[in-house]
Amino acid sequence: MLPAYLPNNCAVLFGKGRPLDLGKSFRDHRRILGDGKTFRGTIFGTLAGIFVGTGQNMIAPKFGLPSFGDGTELISVLVALSFGAMLGDIVASFFKRRMDLERGESLFLVDQLDFVFGSWILLLLLAPSWFHLNFTPMMIITVLIITPILHRLTNIVGYKIKAKKEPW
Ligand code: CTP
Ligand code: MG
Repeated sequence: MLPAYLPNNCAVLFGKGRPLDLGKSFRDHRRILGDGKTFRGTIFGTLAGIFVGTGQNMIAPKFGLPSFGDGTELISVLVALSFGAMLGDIVASFFKRRMDLERGESLFLVDQLDFVFGSWILLLLLAPSWFHLNFTPMMIITVLIITPILHRLTNIVGYKIKAKKEPW
């Protein structure tokens, strides 16, 4: 899951500048996505996920760990995990704005798991056999329990080091 976890943290550190929705709103004056989803954050976040995944893949055999595959499968898996995570977060922001929640306002469980579902959905589309091989039902349940806890802890750290405006 690391290539899906890292993009969000990296987006927090590098995300500034032009927002993905170019500052535009719908006719009800609610922003399409909001200022919290930027080009820089999305691009650097995705690249960070692919980078760490490539590193993991190189050391995996030494530790007897499962790999992300090779060739096109490796690319599909890493793109799905990292870009899928960013996409899930973007889609969640779209719905948060429709629910009249301002940028940064919390939406319980959606904030904590949007990127997990984004990466899994893209994995199912791009590398379904890898998904089924590696994400057993037990693994899925474990990720769904552990991720909100990790998400909360990293955001508290992000808040304390002043990288993030809210501790969630
Ligand atoms: N970020 C970014 N681009 C992204 C995702 C995140 O630039 N695609 C950066 C933004 O600076 C954002 C911060 O990371 O403020 C925290 O991300 P997140 O919590 O997802 O955004 P919020 O500001 O809480 O906005 P939203 O309510 O839309 O989730
Ligand atoms: Mg947020």
